[in-house]
Amino acid sequence: MRTIEWREDGVYIIDQTKLPHELSIIKCMDYERIARAIENMEIRGAPAIGVAAAMGIALAAKSSLGKSIEDIRENLERAAMRLAKTRPTAKNLFWALERLRKIWINEEEGIIEKIIKEALSIAEEDVISCRKIGEYGSQLIEDGDVIMTYCNAGGLACVELGTALGVIKMAFRLGKRITVFVPETRPLLQGARLTAFELKHEGIPFKLITDNMVGYVMQKGMINKVIVGADRITRYGDIFNKIGTYTLALIANAHNIPFYVAAPISTIDLETSTENVIIEERDPKEVLYIKGVRIAPEGIDVMNPAFDMTPARLISAIITDVGIFKPPYDFASLR
Ligand code: MRU
Repeated sequence: MRTIEWREDGVYIIDQTKLPHELSIIKCMDYERIARAIENMEIRGAPAIGVAAAMGIALAAKSSLGKSIEDIRENLERAAMRLAKTRPTAKNLFWALERLRKIWINEEEGIIEKIIKEALSIAEEDVISCRKIGEYGSQLIEDGDVIMTYCNAGGLACVELGTALGVIKMAFRLGKRITVFVPETRPLLQGARLTAFELKHEGIPFKLITDNMVGYVMQKGMINKVIVGADRITRYGDIFNKIGTYTLALIANAHNIPFYVAAPISTIDLETSTENVIIEERDPKEVLYIKGVRIAPEGIDVMNPAFDMTPARLISAIITDVGIFKPPYDFASLR
């Protein structure tokens, strides 16, 4: 199944906290359940949380059937405010909410049907975007490449296929012989749990490493390309992605290894300047515990930023669903 699906009786999502050991499906009946699924990362990854927020609004629309237009608008606004509070960094979530808000603000008739239709289009467009990113990006991949990716920018982070991992999968399906290096991605281990799961499923050869092995393998000349996803890209090409991405980019640059970013244009934020992007700070427990087992002494200080910023100067190209952008980046033309 896809990462997230709209069905007659609810929204179905794959519970990513249980992977890779258990393929468990959650049925969400209202926007509050979707909001909690985003917060506790049962669903995660920028495009996937954009689609989840859209489907949350669609559930709120469905539950407003028979209500007055004022009440429908009020319900949808309440749902949007709740969903906007779940995770602050990925642009796609706010992009999806804004796209739907235009409907309940501007339309006078058939709001509920229009909202549901638009939410489903957002999901379908994500599938198409990932395919396009895969098609463009795979042109950068050569036979024999050894590629490092990070976190999980795969089908689980989108509706299907993925962005950075979509490029890798597409190149592999085209017959290019590639090997992938996957850092585990502490604290929540999206690399070890999710990217390894997807690559194994696809039959793509890969090696799992711990995050602190990145410098070693790059210095040894074992990697010749890096491809990561993004949660937000600002106008001049600075990118926000999983904490540790910046470190990867610095090491890749020190060794002249091309560093690529793959993301749909719904991730691009033309309004917010790089300094003003909010980096989510998550529960210290994610650092203090691994799978419920405490790994550090009691009574200590912890910090847990979920993302970091990689400046445009470290990025060789940004692969999007409308083509490949090379430096110097200025996405204003996309407005
Ligand atoms: O905290 P997460 O797991 O939601 O972070 C995900 C990432 O950092 C991904 O690389 C990003 O969302 C791009 S996914 C196509």
